[in-house]
Amino acid sequence: MRICVIDDETVSLNVISAVLKRTVDHVVESFSSATQALERCREAPFDMILIDYQMPDINGVECVKKLRVMQGYQVVPIIMLTADEDRALRLEAIKAGATDFLNKPFDPEELRVRVKNLLALRQAQLALLDRAEYLDFEVQRATLQLRAREEELIWRLSRAIEMRDDATGEHISRVAISSKLIAQHMGLNEEFCRTIYLASPLHDAGKIAINDAILHKPGKLTKNERKIIQTHTQVGSDILAHGESDLIKMAHEIALSHHEKWDGSGYGNGLSGQDIPLSARIVAIADVFDALCSARSYKPAWQFEDAFDEILRQSGHHFDPTCVAAFESARDQISKVYAGNRQSNNAA
Ligand SMILES: [Fe+2]
Ligand SMILES: [Fe+2]
Repeated sequence: MRICVIDDETVSLNVISAVLKRTVDHVVESFSSATQALERCREAPFDMILIDYQMPDINGVECVKKLRVMQGYQVVPIIMLTADEDRALRLEAIKAGATDFLNKPFDPEELRVRVKNLLALRQAQLALLDRAEYLDFEVQRATLQLRAREEELIWRLSRAIEMRDDATGEHISRVAISSKLIAQHMGLNEEFCRTIYLASPLHDAGKIAINDAILHKPGKLTKNERKIIQTHTQVGSDILAHGESDLIKMAHEIALSHHEKWDGSGYGNGLSGQDIPLSARIVAIADVFDALCSARSYKPAWQFEDAFDEILRQSGHHFDPTCVAAFESARDQISKVYAGNRQSNNAA
């Protein structure tokens, strides 16, 4: 424990320091100037302050006020030494934040006892602070663990769904990255960007209920088959409905609305414009772009540049123009995501 004693009277200062040094096994630093003491308090933390009321530079009450706003001194015990029993002065000192008083001339025994009690209080404060810091650390660790598990579960589930369409799972990871990049270039907050990154891989969760013969039909789909495929938005919505976390809530709106179009000609609920959830408007771009860049049984993969131009052309028709503008500004980063994809397409 470190104790700071401030008193302009040298005799009094020496007596207090001597009593404290003799009776308690702690570090005692003494100052005859409050200004100097405050400077020292700022650079080296003390566990207790004893301060005289009457001093030439700053009086005791003002000094207590200054200490209480200083970092680390909000609750440190402060004993004020006063030569009189003035009630108004004591009240003023308590209001400023003094913890206890000692009358001058003081009784060494009383000084010892008061200092001992307040140091015990200080030790309890430090133990509580330690405990609070420890609990805070534990809560942060548990939250991070929980988030990591949530992320892992989502990725594994998305992979399982995607395996039916694309055994490599690259479609969902590219859609997730592009969706996050679009969100970032729209200036959306970090939490939204993280959530869309994790929620977008579930956009086709409803495909789990679509018959293989239709899902993998090599030729053109009949009108009826197309209608069946289109039910995947509603099935996905049913799977993800009534979630409690922001992640599942967003995954739900994406699954239900990722085939809506800005001009109202899409499917799901036939929404248009800003009635379509923002997350779904973003994922719609990332999903279509990735489908264009990928080879299917009925079409070859488009060149990156051609697919990019197609998205820009669809601004205001299929897609939200604001999201398309963000997609365009993220071009360099998206291009890096598709660099590997382009090489394998060229080799094929
Ligand atoms: Fe879909
Ligand atoms: Fe998709």
